[in-house]
Amino acid sequence: MCGIVGYVGKKDGVDILLDGLSSLEYRGYDSAGIMTLNNTRGNNELEGISICKTKGRVDNLAKNAKQMGIVGNVGIGHTRWATHGEPSDVNSHPHLDSTNTIGVVHNGIIENYLDLKDSLLKKGYHFLSQTDTEVIPNLIKDYCNQTGDFVDATIKATAELKGSYALAVVDKDNPDEMIVTKKDSPLVIGEGEGEFFIASDIPALLKHTNKVYILEDNEFAKITPDNIVFFDEAKKRIEKKYKEIDWSAEAAQKGGYEDFMLKEIFEQPTAIRKTIGNRLDKDNLIAELGITPEYIKSIEKIYIVACGTAMNAGLSGRKIIEKLLKIPTEVDIASEFRYREPLITEKTLVITISQSGETADTLAALRLAKKSNAKTLTITNTIGSTISREADFVMYTQAGPEIAVASTKAYNTQLVAMYCLAIAFAKALNLDYNDLDKELESISNKIEIALQKVDNIKDIAKQMYNAHDMFFLGRGNDFPVAQEGSLKLKEISYIHSEAYAAGELKHGPIALIEKDTFVVCIVTDNTLLDKSLSNIQEVKTRGAKVVLITDQKVDKKYYDYLIEVPQCSSIISPMLTVVPAQLLAYYIAKDKELDVDKPRNLAKSVTVE
Ligand code: F6R
Repeated sequence: MCGIVGYVGKKDGVDILLDGLSSLEYRGYDSAGIMTLNNTRGNNELEGISICKTKGRVDNLAKNAKQMGIVGNVGIGHTRWATHGEPSDVNSHPHLDSTNTIGVVHNGIIENYLDLKDSLLKKGYHFLSQTDTEVIPNLIKDYCNQTGDFVDATIKATAELKGSYALAVVDKDNPDEMIVTKKDSPLVIGEGEGEFFIASDIPALLKHTNKVYILEDNEFAKITPDNIVFFDEAKKRIEKKYKEIDWSAEAAQKGGYEDFMLKEIFEQPTAIRKTIGNRLDKDNLIAELGITPEYIKSIEKIYIVACGTAMNAGLSGRKIIEKLLKIPTEVDIASEFRYREPLITEKTLVITISQSGETADTLAALRLAKKSNAKTLTITNTIGSTISREADFVMYTQAGPEIAVASTKAYNTQLVAMYCLAIAFAKALNLDYNDLDKELESISNKIEIALQKVDNIKDIAKQMYNAHDMFFLGRGNDFPVAQEGSLKLKEISYIHSEAYAAGELKHGPIALIEKDTFVVCIVTDNTLLDKSLSNIQEVKTRGAKVVLITDQKVDKKYYDYLIEVPQCSSIISPMLTVVPAQLLAYYIAKDKELDVDKPRNLAKSVTVE
């Protein structure tokens, strides 16, 4: 969680820092701050350092920073999702050491900060905040006093940290340089002409450059306006080449839409087409992954491990894998998987799914799988992310930057990636895949048709937004969509909602259905149609108002509101039926006048346990 930015150049970096923080706000938005050095002006009471920190959003920070008139050629910034210490001005980053010399922004958690704080207090350092981060500038300062060298001090200090961190560090005594390093939290560096940009993710850099260095764990970079040097913990130089990123800067803008979430919902057909690419031709995907048919034949069990929406995508993935490949497949929540001693052997394939490629629990699950000698395959959207670097096989989704906290296009590209994978494996094993490749090729057109029905969904949302509780029901292939629809609604509208396998309702939860309770039912599988309709009848009899999302012809008596989608093979229908569910959540949240892109308490990238 938390977003960090940095600028090292010859011009004033304040607007660049503030702009970078705005685009990282999805990572946390409790409080924010910036600090500048070198040719700085503003609140110079700290002699050579200008700092502005505030509780609340980056907009607040920008107003305060402008009022103070802060400028500076070197600067760091932070947008926070609080872990240690409530959101407040004083707990906001950047943090300074007791002598106001070393400034730090940090993303991650320092697990041993209490021990470190204790020993620093004994040495006479004092602390202003309740954060874990404040030990870092003090520790660096302590080593600066011992070694007289900013770089050595930073290396020595980070060697004492336990936990995760991405750090940007500045020193008033070395005002035109910055040191950055990371462990288990992301950090990227963009190279411009006589300037460098630091950020927690690539989209925050795209306005300035597409030349991006991806820092690995325990690597350091010392940055001045004209130079960057990479080195390891032993100060040994590392040669690193930047990657040219082909995402455009516009991809990270709203492009005329009211919110990123709406834009991203509408981008799904394109994102899916891009993710399929030519992967279904011949053995392209197998070749891209570097997997052999012999290896596929040797797989005895598959685990799909992920969190939240990505886990919901895995639930649909399991269905197609088991149907086409007949390999027993389990789906697990990463935070459970990592502690439950799963039965992994070298004949197990562990598939992790992660939009960010940085989710702490998913990463831990992947590492556990590797330790148990299983092969790991990851489906991720983020080039160079930790998970992508550590997995044996990587399949990138092509969703482009997803900025809204609630995942929509990333989910759908994760689905299509799972379907492509299952089909490619089936082809490699000469198994039947029921022409699903052709079905997949046409899914984006069907989603475009479903998106045209947006006005109908807007009208239905107007009837629903005052609800306190809702249910989502589905059977078979429709059940994971019910789970995803329910999650989306909870996240952005704050309406309590439960998803159930439709046949399970009468085993308890039906007690909660009362007059006018909204129940969203997803029905695509015509082999289960009668059973689904009976379940709908059960809730209607108890007074529920049914919103039906379906590609089937269904008698009017079964629903109060109908959302039709084009006909589609049930196994891949989640890609289609989820779209009205996303729109429903979106418009309900809009009717409640909520901030859909930045829902309360949430952050997009969950890099803590
Ligand atoms: C929900 C949502 C989260 C993420 C989850 C995993 O809309 O976005 O549930 O899906 O935190 O994140 P990634 O995919 O980055 O591992």
